[in-house]
Amino acid sequence: MASAQKIPAKMMAIAISEPGGPRVLKPETRDVPLRGPGEVLIRVRAAGVNRPDVLQRKGAYPPPPGASDLPGLEVSGEVAALGDEISRWRIGDRVCALTPGGGYAEYVKVHAGSVLPLPAGFTHTEAAAVPETYFTVWHNVFERGGLKCGETLLVHGGSSGIGTTAIQLASAFGAYVITTAGSREKCDACLKLGADRAINYREEDFVAAVKDATGGKGANVILDMIAGDYVTRNYEAAAVEGRIVQIAVQGGAAASVDFSRLMVKRLTHTGSTLRPRTVEFKAAIAVALEAQVWPLLGSRKIAPVMDTILPLSEAWRAHERMEDGEHIGKIVLDVG
Ligand SMILES: NC(=O)c1ccc[n+]([C@@H]2O[C@H](COP(=O)([O-])OP(=O)(O)OC[C@H]3O[C@@H](n4cnc5c(N)ncnc54)[C@H](OP(=O)(O)O)[C@@H]3O)[C@@H](O)[C@H]2O)c1
Repeated sequence: MASAQKIPAKMMAIAISEPGGPRVLKPETRDVPLRGPGEVLIRVRAAGVNRPDVLQRKGAYPPPPGASDLPGLEVSGEVAALGDEISRWRIGDRVCALTPGGGYAEYVKVHAGSVLPLPAGFTHTEAAAVPETYFTVWHNVFERGGLKCGETLLVHGGSSGIGTTAIQLASAFGAYVITTAGSREKCDACLKLGADRAINYREEDFVAAVKDATGGKGANVILDMIAGDYVTRNYEAAAVEGRIVQIAVQGGAAASVDFSRLMVKRLTHTGSTLRPRTVEFKAAIAVALEAQVWPLLGSRKIAPVMDTILPLSEAWRAHERMEDGEHIGKIVLDVG
């Protein structure tokens, strides 16, 4: 190992004691992870909570091979130790990171390519709310969906962690942003973040509303986390040569689809999941984010929307809040 601080052998972590409801999240004493070559050990100060953590807790989203069984896909903290072959980071650097799991703990090991500096002026709780949604939105909206300045983005679930990020980023890069959300309060929050049009999908048909807002043209890119009966409706709401990017299937993985719409409009329907991707792939996204997005965060042109901050020991309450569906933006655990 290149260098190390005094690091305890044991740490407190929140583990999934068995698949089930929020109360299966229980404190456990675990060994502090041993970093390998190219890996950074982070003393975690805050950990972001994401919907995939809820799916993992229920037993529906197992960690990829080699990843920690502890939940937690993003953290911020200080570099506590460095494996070999790392030149960029120093012990004590304030960083945030995308993790393949293990974030609900006092220490986590992460590949150096998934680590970024804290955006200028950010607290640890703010920084922990950034990596998972920014990596996901950057790849799916801009790289996979190819959203360009002047195009229209439709993002479903605009008040979610992912949605609040997508609205702000797309709007900052010059897109016209339409979003859906389940209440007036959530729609208002989306408009404040920069959405040009917010559709309460419980009261309005989003296909008609998108057509209306775009002079009949439709959305160039659609970021969808619903699937199910949204698939054909997304095809209806899309513009000619539109790109639909699937990042979740909350409305059901199976769908009856009218493919004639896809052919007639020459649509592209794609999708991805971030967690199992290679460290090289994630490192390339980190480079793009640091160059193009970190300056926007540092100048507060955009910022994570903080819903709730709870202590790590109350991770179960954080999951309850997420499953209640009342939150707007991000829920974060303060690790101390
Ligand atoms: N593929 C990937 O790499 C990746 C990575 C991270 C997250 N994800 C997925 O992205 C989604 C958001 O994650 P998150 O952590 O931001 O979770 P979250 O904050 O809990 O968001 C879930 C959102 O879904 C919305 N929703 C549910 N049904 C809806 C509908 N019919 N129309 C519009 N919105 C609807 C909810 O809003 P309402 O109350 O308004 O319905 C809620 O805002 C999750 O499904 C997650 O699994 C995917």
